[in-house]
Amino acid sequence: MQKILITGGAGFIGSHVVRRFVTSYPTTQIVNLDALTYAGNLANLTDIESQPNYTFVKGDITDAAFIDELFKTHDFTGVVHLAAESHVDRSISDPMAFVMTNVIGTVNLLNAARIAWKGKEEGRRFYHVSTDEVYGELHDPKEFFVETTSYDPRSPYSASKASSDHFVRAYHNTYKLPVVISNCSNNYGPNHFPEKLIPLMINNIQNNKPLPVYGKGENVRDWLYVEDHARAIDLIYHEGVNGETYNIGGCNEWKNLDLVFLLCKVMDEKLGRPEGTSAQLITYVTDRAGHDLRYAIDPSKLMNELGWKPSVTFEEGLEKTVQWYLDNQKWLENVTSGNYQKYYDGMY
Ligand code: NAD
Ligand code: DAU
Repeated sequence: MQKILITGGAGFIGSHVVRRFVTSYPTTQIVNLDALTYAGNLANLTDIESQPNYTFVKGDITDAAFIDELFKTHDFTGVVHLAAESHVDRSISDPMAFVMTNVIGTVNLLNAARIAWKGKEEGRRFYHVSTDEVYGELHDPKEFFVETTSYDPRSPYSASKASSDHFVRAYHNTYKLPVVISNCSNNYGPNHFPEKLIPLMINNIQNNKPLPVYGKGENVRDWLYVEDHARAIDLIYHEGVNGETYNIGGCNEWKNLDLVFLLCKVMDEKLGRPEGTSAQLITYVTDRAGHDLRYAIDPSKLMNELGWKPSVTFEEGLEKTVQWYLDNQKWLENVTSGNYQKYYDGMY
Protein backbone atom coordinates (compact mmCIF):
# COMPACT_ATOMS: atom_id res chain seq x y z
CA MET A 1 0.00 0.00 0.00
CA GLN A 2 1.43 3.38 -1.02
CA LYS A 3 1.06 6.14 1.58
CA ILE A 4 2.32 9.61 0.68
CA LEU A 5 2.80 12.48 3.11
CA ILE A 6 2.17 15.84 1.41
CA THR A 7 3.26 18.79 3.55
CA GLY A 8 1.74 22.25 3.05
CA GLY A 9 -1.25 20.74 1.25
CA ALA A 10 -3.65 23.45 2.46
CA GLY A 11 -1.61 26.17 0.72
CA PHE A 12 -1.72 27.44 -2.83
CA ILE A 13 0.36 24.90 -4.78
CA GLY A 14 -0.03 22.16 -2.17
CA SER A 15 -3.83 22.13 -2.54
CA HIS A 16 -3.51 21.52 -6.31
CA VAL A 17 -0.95 18.77 -5.67
CA VAL A 18 -3.15 17.10 -3.03
CA ARG A 19 -6.19 17.21 -5.34
CA ARG A 20 -4.18 15.72 -8.21
CA PHE A 21 -2.73 12.86 -6.11
CA VAL A 22 -6.03 12.05 -4.32
CA THR A 23 -8.02 11.88 -7.57
CA SER A 24 -5.36 10.30 -9.82
CA TYR A 25 -4.23 7.58 -7.36
CA PRO A 26 -7.34 6.31 -5.52
CA THR A 27 -5.48 3.31 -4.06
CA THR A 28 -2.73 5.52 -2.58
CA GLN A 29 -3.34 7.02 0.85
CA ILE A 30 -2.63 10.75 0.91
CA VAL A 31 -1.89 12.38 4.26
CA ASN A 32 -1.92 16.18 4.12
CA LEU A 33 0.15 17.71 6.94
CA ASP A 34 -0.30 21.45 7.38
CA ALA A 35 0.04 23.89 10.30
CA LEU A 36 -2.72 26.10 8.82
CA THR A 37 -0.72 29.30 9.06
CA TYR A 38 -2.20 32.50 7.57
CA ALA A 39 -1.48 30.92 4.14
CA GLY A 40 -3.10 27.53 4.79
CA ASN A 41 -6.79 27.17 4.10
CA LEU A 42 -8.80 23.95 4.18
CA ALA A 43 -11.45 25.67 2.05
CA ASN A 44 -9.00 25.01 -0.81
CA LEU A 45 -9.79 21.29 -0.52
CA THR A 46 -13.52 21.01 0.25
CA ASP A 47 -14.18 19.11 -3.00
CA ILE A 48 -11.89 16.19 -2.06
CA GLU A 49 -11.96 16.23 1.77
CA SER A 50 -14.35 13.26 2.04
CA GLN A 51 -12.43 10.99 -0.37
CA PRO A 52 -11.57 7.69 1.37
CA ASN A 53 -7.85 7.95 0.47
CA TYR A 54 -7.46 11.43 1.99
CA THR A 55 -6.56 12.39 5.57
CA PHE A 56 -5.73 15.80 7.02
CA VAL A 57 -3.34 16.19 9.96
CA LYS A 58 -2.83 19.57 11.58
CA GLY A 59 0.77 19.93 12.70
CA ASP A 60 3.92 21.96 12.56
CA ILE A 61 7.05 20.71 10.78
CA THR A 62 9.25 22.70 13.18
CA ASP A 63 8.15 20.32 15.97
CA ALA A 64 10.70 17.48 15.66
CA ALA A 65 9.08 15.19 18.25
CA PHE A 66 5.71 15.47 16.51
CA ILE A 67 7.26 14.73 13.09
CA ASP A 68 9.19 11.71 14.44
CA GLU A 69 5.98 10.35 15.98
CA LEU A 70 4.07 10.88 12.72
CA PHE A 71 6.65 8.78 10.85
CA LYS A 72 6.36 6.07 13.55
CA THR A 73 2.57 5.86 13.30
CA HIS A 74 2.44 5.93 9.49
CA ASP A 75 4.59 3.84 7.16
CA PHE A 76 5.04 6.56 4.55
CA THR A 77 6.29 5.31 1.19
CA GLY A 78 6.90 8.87 0.04
CA VAL A 79 6.97 12.52 1.01
CA VAL A 80 6.14 15.50 -1.19
CA HIS A 81 7.37 18.47 0.82
CA LEU A 82 5.79 21.84 0.04
CA ALA A 83 5.22 23.35 3.49
CA ALA A 84 7.09 26.65 3.68
CA GLU A 85 6.96 30.31 4.42
CA SER A 86 6.71 31.46 0.81
CA HIS A 87 6.45 35.25 0.59
CA VAL A 88 9.63 37.25 -0.10
CA ASP A 89 8.30 40.49 1.47
CA ARG A 90 7.46 38.67 4.72
CA SER A 91 10.97 37.17 4.75
CA ILE A 92 12.39 40.69 4.73
CA SER A 93 10.37 41.72 7.80
CA ASP A 94 10.63 38.39 9.68
CA PRO A 95 13.55 36.23 8.44
CA MET A 96 13.55 33.90 11.47
CA ALA A 97 10.13 32.45 10.62
CA PHE A 98 11.69 31.39 7.30
CA VAL A 99 14.70 29.79 8.98
CA MET A 100 12.41 27.87 11.32
CA THR A 101 9.97 26.44 8.79
CA ASN A 102 12.04 26.28 5.61
CA VAL A 103 15.34 25.11 7.10
CA ILE A 104 14.61 23.48 10.49
CA GLY A 105 11.25 22.11 9.35
CA THR A 106 12.83 20.52 6.27
CA VAL A 107 15.67 18.98 8.30
CA ASN A 108 13.13 17.58 10.81
CA LEU A 109 11.36 15.82 7.91
CA LEU A 110 14.64 14.56 6.44
CA ASN A 111 15.70 13.17 9.83
CA ALA A 112 12.39 11.43 10.42
CA ALA A 113 12.47 9.87 6.93
CA ARG A 114 16.12 8.81 7.32
CA ILE A 115 15.41 7.01 10.58
CA ALA A 116 12.05 5.50 9.60
CA TRP A 117 13.31 4.31 6.19
CA LYS A 118 16.75 3.05 7.25
CA GLY A 119 17.50 -0.22 5.44
CA LYS A 120 14.20 -0.09 3.52
CA GLU A 121 14.78 2.91 1.24
CA GLU A 122 14.03 0.93 -1.94
CA GLY A 123 10.85 2.20 -3.63
CA ARG A 124 10.54 5.22 -1.33
CA ARG A 125 11.06 8.84 -2.23
CA PHE A 126 11.51 12.22 -0.52
CA TYR A 127 10.50 14.95 -2.97
CA HIS A 128 11.51 18.49 -2.03
CA VAL A 129 9.63 21.29 -3.84
CA SER A 130 11.82 24.34 -4.28
CA THR A 131 12.12 27.60 -6.17
CA ASP A 132 14.10 29.19 -9.00
CA GLU A 133 14.98 32.05 -6.61
CA VAL A 134 17.88 29.98 -5.21
CA TYR A 135 19.82 30.77 -8.42
CA GLY A 136 19.77 34.52 -7.79
CA GLU A 137 18.92 37.05 -10.50
CA LEU A 138 19.64 37.29 -14.24
CA HIS A 139 20.68 40.38 -16.20
CA ASP A 140 21.56 39.09 -19.66
CA PRO A 141 18.27 38.41 -21.52
CA LYS A 142 19.92 35.44 -23.28
CA GLU A 143 20.66 33.69 -19.98
CA PHE A 144 18.42 31.13 -18.25
CA PHE A 145 18.66 29.11 -15.05
CA VAL A 146 19.61 25.47 -15.65
CA GLU A 147 20.00 22.73 -13.05
CA THR A 148 23.77 23.34 -12.84
CA THR A 149 23.51 27.13 -12.34
CA SER A 150 25.39 28.09 -9.16
CA TYR A 151 23.32 29.00 -6.15
CA ASP A 152 23.22 32.73 -5.33
CA PRO A 153 20.22 33.37 -3.05
CA ARG A 154 19.68 37.06 -2.38
CA SER A 155 16.64 37.31 -0.07
CA PRO A 156 16.03 35.69 3.32
CA TYR A 157 13.33 33.58 1.60
CA SER A 158 15.62 32.31 -1.16
CA ALA A 159 18.48 31.81 1.31
CA SER A 160 16.22 29.60 3.45
CA LYS A 161 15.07 27.60 0.42
CA ALA A 162 18.68 27.26 -0.84
CA SER A 163 19.71 26.01 2.58
CA SER A 164 16.92 23.43 2.58
CA ASP A 165 17.95 22.27 -0.92
CA HIS A 166 21.52 21.78 0.31
CA PHE A 167 20.31 19.71 3.28
CA VAL A 168 18.22 17.51 0.97
CA ARG A 169 21.24 16.85 -1.27
CA ALA A 170 23.47 16.28 1.78
CA TYR A 171 21.06 13.62 3.10
CA HIS A 172 21.17 11.89 -0.28
CA ASN A 173 24.96 11.94 -0.38
CA THR A 174 25.56 11.06 3.27
CA TYR A 175 22.70 8.73 4.18
CA LYS A 176 21.61 7.59 0.66
CA LEU A 177 18.14 8.98 1.33
CA PRO A 178 16.22 8.63 -1.98
CA VAL A 179 15.51 12.28 -2.81
CA VAL A 180 14.45 14.35 -5.77
CA ILE A 181 14.28 18.17 -6.02
CA SER A 182 12.51 20.53 -8.38
CA ASN A 183 13.00 24.29 -8.69
CA CYS A 184 10.05 26.10 -10.21
CA SER A 185 9.31 29.61 -11.48
CA ASN A 186 6.39 31.84 -10.37
CA ASN A 187 3.05 30.06 -10.19
CA TYR A 188 -0.38 31.64 -10.61
CA GLY A 189 -3.95 30.32 -10.50
CA PRO A 190 -6.86 29.63 -8.14
CA ASN A 191 -6.24 29.64 -4.34
CA HIS A 192 -3.21 31.95 -4.67
CA PHE A 193 -2.99 34.06 -1.51
CA PRO A 194 -3.66 37.74 -2.37
CA GLU A 195 -0.36 39.00 -0.98
CA LYS A 196 1.30 37.80 -4.22
CA LEU A 197 1.36 39.96 -7.35
CA ILE A 198 -1.40 38.50 -9.56
CA PRO A 199 -4.15 37.88 -6.96
CA LEU A 200 -3.29 41.11 -5.13
CA MET A 201 -3.81 43.09 -8.33
CA ILE A 202 -7.06 41.27 -9.19
CA ASN A 203 -8.41 41.93 -5.69
CA ASN A 204 -7.38 45.60 -5.70
CA ILE A 205 -8.74 46.28 -9.19
CA GLN A 206 -12.06 44.81 -8.13
CA ASN A 207 -12.15 47.02 -5.04
CA ASN A 208 -10.85 50.17 -6.79
CA LYS A 209 -7.75 50.20 -4.58
CA PRO A 210 -4.28 51.43 -5.68
CA LEU A 211 -2.18 48.88 -7.61
CA PRO A 212 1.26 48.99 -5.91
CA VAL A 213 4.00 48.45 -8.51
CA TYR A 214 7.42 48.08 -6.86
CA GLY A 215 10.10 50.42 -8.26
CA LYS A 216 9.58 51.04 -11.97
CA GLY A 217 7.88 47.69 -12.59
CA GLU A 218 10.81 46.50 -14.71
CA ASN A 219 11.47 43.23 -12.88
CA VAL A 220 10.76 40.10 -14.88
CA ARG A 221 9.14 36.85 -13.74
CA ASP A 222 8.41 33.60 -15.64
CA TRP A 223 4.79 32.59 -14.93
CA LEU A 224 3.42 29.02 -14.88
CA TYR A 225 -0.20 27.95 -14.32
CA VAL A 226 -0.34 26.11 -10.99
CA GLU A 227 -1.95 22.93 -12.40
CA ASP A 228 0.98 22.57 -14.80
CA HIS A 229 3.31 22.71 -11.78
CA ALA A 230 1.21 20.05 -10.03
CA ARG A 231 1.41 17.89 -13.19
CA ALA A 232 5.20 18.27 -13.22
CA ILE A 233 5.40 17.30 -9.53
CA ASP A 234 3.29 14.19 -10.19
CA LEU A 235 5.56 13.21 -13.10
CA ILE A 236 8.82 13.85 -11.24
CA TYR A 237 7.57 12.06 -8.11
CA HIS A 238 6.71 8.96 -10.14
CA GLU A 239 9.34 9.00 -12.90
CA GLY A 240 12.21 11.25 -11.80
CA VAL A 241 15.62 9.81 -10.93
CA ASN A 242 16.83 9.78 -7.32
CA GLY A 243 19.43 12.43 -6.57
CA GLU A 244 18.41 14.51 -9.58
CA THR A 245 17.11 18.08 -9.81
CA TYR A 246 14.54 19.24 -12.36
CA ASN A 247 13.84 22.87 -13.27
CA ILE A 248 10.19 23.70 -14.00
CA GLY A 249 9.13 26.86 -15.82
CA GLY A 250 6.53 28.31 -18.12
CA CYS A 251 8.82 29.88 -20.78
CA ASN A 252 6.54 32.84 -20.21
CA GLU A 253 8.43 35.93 -19.11
CA TRP A 254 6.62 39.15 -18.23
CA LYS A 255 7.84 42.49 -17.01
CA ASN A 256 5.75 43.31 -13.91
CA LEU A 257 4.37 46.55 -15.34
CA ASP A 258 3.29 44.89 -18.62
CA LEU A 259 1.59 42.15 -16.63
CA VAL A 260 -0.26 44.66 -14.43
CA PHE A 261 -1.49 46.51 -17.55
CA LEU A 262 -2.65 43.19 -19.02
CA LEU A 263 -4.53 42.35 -15.81
CA CYS A 264 -6.16 45.80 -15.89
CA LYS A 265 -7.32 45.16 -19.47
CA VAL A 266 -8.72 41.70 -18.65
CA MET A 267 -10.47 43.04 -15.54
CA ASP A 268 -11.95 46.04 -17.41
CA GLU A 269 -13.51 43.58 -19.89
CA LYS A 270 -14.76 41.26 -17.12
CA LEU A 271 -16.23 44.06 -15.03
CA GLY A 272 -17.69 45.90 -18.03
CA ARG A 273 -15.60 49.01 -17.35
CA PRO A 274 -14.31 51.23 -20.19
CA GLU A 275 -10.78 50.16 -21.26
CA GLY A 276 -8.15 52.11 -19.33
CA THR A 277 -10.24 52.51 -16.15
CA SER A 278 -8.30 50.08 -13.95
CA ALA A 279 -4.87 51.19 -15.23
CA GLN A 280 -5.51 54.56 -13.59
CA LEU A 281 -5.13 52.77 -10.24
CA ILE A 282 -1.45 51.92 -10.93
CA THR A 283 0.75 53.47 -8.22
CA TYR A 284 4.55 53.25 -8.12
CA VAL A 285 5.74 52.43 -4.60
CA THR A 286 9.14 52.00 -2.91
CA ASP A 287 10.99 49.05 -4.39
CA ARG A 288 11.39 45.75 -2.51
CA ALA A 289 14.77 45.68 -0.73
CA GLY A 290 17.27 43.65 -2.76
CA HIS A 291 14.65 43.10 -5.49
CA ASP A 292 15.87 40.42 -7.95
CA LEU A 293 15.69 41.74 -11.51
CA ARG A 294 14.82 38.68 -13.57
CA TYR A 295 14.14 34.99 -13.11
CA ALA A 296 13.90 32.70 -16.15
CA ILE A 297 13.96 28.92 -16.18
CA ASP A 298 15.19 26.61 -18.91
CA PRO A 299 12.99 23.51 -18.41
CA SER A 300 14.65 21.46 -21.21
CA LYS A 301 15.78 18.65 -18.91
CA LEU A 302 12.25 18.00 -17.65
CA MET A 303 10.86 18.26 -21.18
CA ASN A 304 13.46 16.02 -22.81
CA GLU A 305 13.89 13.40 -20.08
CA LEU A 306 10.33 13.12 -18.71
CA GLY A 307 8.25 14.55 -21.58
CA TRP A 308 6.62 17.40 -19.61
CA LYS A 309 5.47 20.63 -21.16
CA PRO A 310 3.03 23.33 -20.00
CA SER A 311 -0.52 22.57 -21.14
CA VAL A 312 -2.22 25.89 -20.34
CA THR A 313 -1.38 29.05 -22.31
CA PHE A 314 -0.95 32.28 -20.35
CA GLU A 315 -4.05 33.72 -22.00
CA GLU A 316 -6.17 30.71 -20.90
CA GLY A 317 -4.57 30.57 -17.47
CA LEU A 318 -5.11 34.24 -16.73
CA GLU A 319 -8.71 34.07 -17.92
CA LYS A 320 -9.39 31.01 -15.67
CA THR A 321 -7.64 32.70 -12.75
CA VAL A 322 -9.48 36.01 -13.00
CA GLN A 323 -12.81 34.18 -13.38
CA TRP A 324 -12.02 32.00 -10.35
CA TYR A 325 -11.45 35.06 -8.14
CA LEU A 326 -14.63 36.72 -9.41
CA ASP A 327 -16.58 33.52 -8.69
CA ASN A 328 -15.05 33.02 -5.22
CA GLN A 329 -15.74 36.26 -3.39
CA LYS A 330 -16.36 34.48 -0.10
CA TRP A 331 -12.91 32.83 -0.24
CA LEU A 332 -11.33 36.23 -0.92
CA GLU A 333 -13.28 37.93 1.86
CA ASN A 334 -12.23 35.22 4.33
CA VAL A 335 -8.53 35.43 3.54
CA THR A 336 -8.36 39.22 3.24
CA SER A 337 -9.96 39.88 6.61
CA GLY A 338 -8.14 39.77 9.94
CA ASN A 339 -4.42 39.12 9.95
CA TYR A 340 -3.89 39.60 6.23
CA GLN A 341 -5.50 43.01 6.36
CA LYS A 342 -3.19 44.01 9.22
CA TYR A 343 -0.14 42.82 7.26
CA TYR A 344 -1.30 44.55 4.08
CA ASP A 345 -1.97 47.85 5.84
CA GLY A 346 1.55 47.68 7.33
CA MET A 347 3.15 47.34 3.87
CA TYR A 348 2.41 50.88 2.66
P1 NAD B 1 1.81 28.94 0.47
O1 NAD B 1 2.38 29.98 1.34
O2 NAD B 1 0.58 29.23 -0.32
O3 NAD B 1 1.49 27.63 1.32
C1 NAD B 1 2.38 27.13 2.29
C2 NAD B 1 1.65 26.11 3.14
O4 NAD B 1 2.57 25.60 4.10
C3 NAD B 1 0.45 26.69 3.90
O5 NAD B 1 -0.65 25.83 3.79
C4 NAD B 1 0.96 26.76 5.33
O6 NAD B 1 -0.08 26.62 6.30
C5 NAD B 1 1.93 25.59 5.38
N1 NAD B 1 2.96 25.78 6.41
C6 NAD B 1 3.71 26.89 6.62
N2 NAD B 1 4.52 26.70 7.69
C7 NAD B 1 4.29 25.43 8.13
C8 NAD B 1 4.82 24.66 9.20
N3 NAD B 1 5.77 25.15 10.01
N4 NAD B 1 4.38 23.39 9.34
C9 NAD B 1 3.42 22.89 8.53
N5 NAD B 1 2.86 23.59 7.53
C10 NAD B 1 3.29 24.85 7.33
O7 NAD B 1 3.01 28.47 -0.49
P2 NAD B 1 2.99 28.05 -2.03
O8 NAD B 1 3.11 29.26 -2.86
O9 NAD B 1 1.89 27.08 -2.26
O10 NAD B 1 4.40 27.29 -2.11
C11 NAD B 1 4.48 25.91 -1.78
C12 NAD B 1 5.92 25.46 -1.98
O11 NAD B 1 6.33 25.68 -3.33
C13 NAD B 1 6.92 26.22 -1.11
O12 NAD B 1 7.90 25.32 -0.67
C14 NAD B 1 7.52 27.25 -2.06
O13 NAD B 1 8.83 27.58 -1.67
C15 NAD B 1 7.50 26.48 -3.37
N6 NAD B 1 7.40 27.31 -4.59
C16 NAD B 1 6.41 28.25 -4.72
C17 NAD B 1 6.30 28.96 -5.92
C18 NAD B 1 5.22 30.00 -6.12
O14 NAD B 1 5.22 30.69 -7.14
N7 NAD B 1 4.26 30.15 -5.22
C19 NAD B 1 7.20 28.70 -6.96
C20 NAD B 1 8.20 27.75 -6.77
C21 NAD B 1 8.29 27.03 -5.59
O1 DAU C 1 10.08 32.47 -8.50
C1 DAU C 1 9.34 31.63 -7.65
C2 DAU C 1 8.86 32.43 -6.45
O2 DAU C 1 7.82 33.28 -6.91
C3 DAU C 1 8.38 31.56 -5.29
O3 DAU C 1 9.44 30.79 -4.81
C4 DAU C 1 7.79 32.43 -4.18
O4 DAU C 1 7.27 31.61 -3.16
C5 DAU C 1 6.68 33.28 -4.77
O5 DAU C 1 6.14 34.13 -3.78
C6 DAU C 1 7.19 34.09 -5.95
O6 DAU C 1 8.12 35.13 -5.52
P1 DAU C 1 8.08 36.61 -6.14
O7 DAU C 1 8.72 37.52 -5.19
O8 DAU C 1 8.57 36.61 -7.54
O9 DAU C 1 6.47 36.82 -6.20
P2 DAU C 1 5.53 38.07 -5.83
O10 DAU C 1 4.17 37.72 -6.32
O11 DAU C 1 5.70 38.48 -4.42
O12 DAU C 1 6.12 39.23 -6.74
C7 DAU C 1 6.19 39.10 -8.15
C8 DAU C 1 6.85 40.36 -8.69
O13 DAU C 1 5.96 41.46 -8.53
C9 DAU C 1 8.12 40.75 -7.97
O14 DAU C 1 9.03 41.32 -8.90
C10 DAU C 1 7.66 41.83 -6.97
C11 DAU C 1 6.52 42.49 -7.71
N1 DAU C 1 5.41 43.02 -6.87
C12 DAU C 1 4.86 42.19 -5.95
C13 DAU C 1 3.82 42.61 -5.16
C14 DAU C 1 3.21 41.70 -4.12
C15 DAU C 1 4.93 44.30 -7.07
O15 DAU C 1 5.42 45.06 -7.94
N2 DAU C 1 3.88 44.72 -6.29
C16 DAU C 1 3.32 43.93 -5.34
O16 DAU C 1 2.37 44.38 -4.65
